[in-house]
Amino acid sequence: MSRALATSSPTQRHPLPAGLDPARLPAHVAVIMDGNGRWASQRGLPRVMGHREGVEALKRTLRLCSDWGVGALTAYAFSTENWNRPGEEVRFLMALFERVLEREIVALEREQVRIRFLGDLEALPRGLQQLIADATARTAANTGIHFNVCTNYGGRAELVRVARRLAERVARGELDPAAIDEGCFAAELHTAGQHDPDLLIRTSGEQRISNFLLWQLAYAELHITDVLWPDFDGAALLQALLDYQNRQRRFGRVEPAA
Ligand code: FPP
Repeated sequence: MSRALATSSPTQRHPLPAGLDPARLPAHVAVIMDGNGRWASQRGLPRVMGHREGVEALKRTLRLCSDWGVGALTAYAFSTENWNRPGEEVRFLMALFERVLEREIVALEREQVRIRFLGDLEALPRGLQQLIADATARTAANTGIHFNVCTNYGGRAELVRVARRLAERVARGELDPAAIDEGCFAAELHTAGQHDPDLLIRTSGEQRISNFLLWQLAYAELHITDVLWPDFDGAALLQALLDYQNRQRRFGRVEPAA
């Protein structure tokens, strides 16, 4: 039986845990969901079972972020490099994305989640592209958490795409090269209009960025946990948020930023 996005009742919310300051929550959390394969191998299961369980961890995390007051969650679901995995695993992942979208769209609508997919979506299977377009349109007018799913996403590819788009505008005579600044660059990113992530969580202990949100993570605080993604739960998220609230964010200044 599939577990719905809502844990028990659609109206039941998880209260903010004691110890977390609601005024200092990250506005945007990004997550590299690593360790699905290892989670499955440790149990003698095929790797793909780890991905299936990883979906449950993602739903848990989205619900908790939404209930606790985090404004946006961005998850790295499939990188441009993930096409190099065995064909069977790639096919499983694409089919999993489709199944999850079909199954969860009603809960996403009900819970006011605004879902978007970031990356080169044209390379995805047609059926998945349609489900993505449908889910994006159906949730665009919602008022709750922004949920970005990075799918066929690569940070370098995203930066190259921005450079190409700006160059095209220059070539058409619409843009003066001297007018290109950080604001106009950021406006061409997949995340245009969104707050940069304040906190990046990476599970399974690896200490890498792995081509994720290279521009947007410039000032993110990093929280790396040994927890494998399918085991990521409320306690692990709380740990990450407490860690974040203990940091002094200086953005290059001497004193912490106000
Ligand atoms: C990394 O673990 C995880 C992935 C490449 C896939 C993550 C995808 C999901 C959890 C599904 C999300 C679905 C939707 C629709 C949003 P790994 O395989 O690299 O683990 P390992 O490092 O232990 O091998």
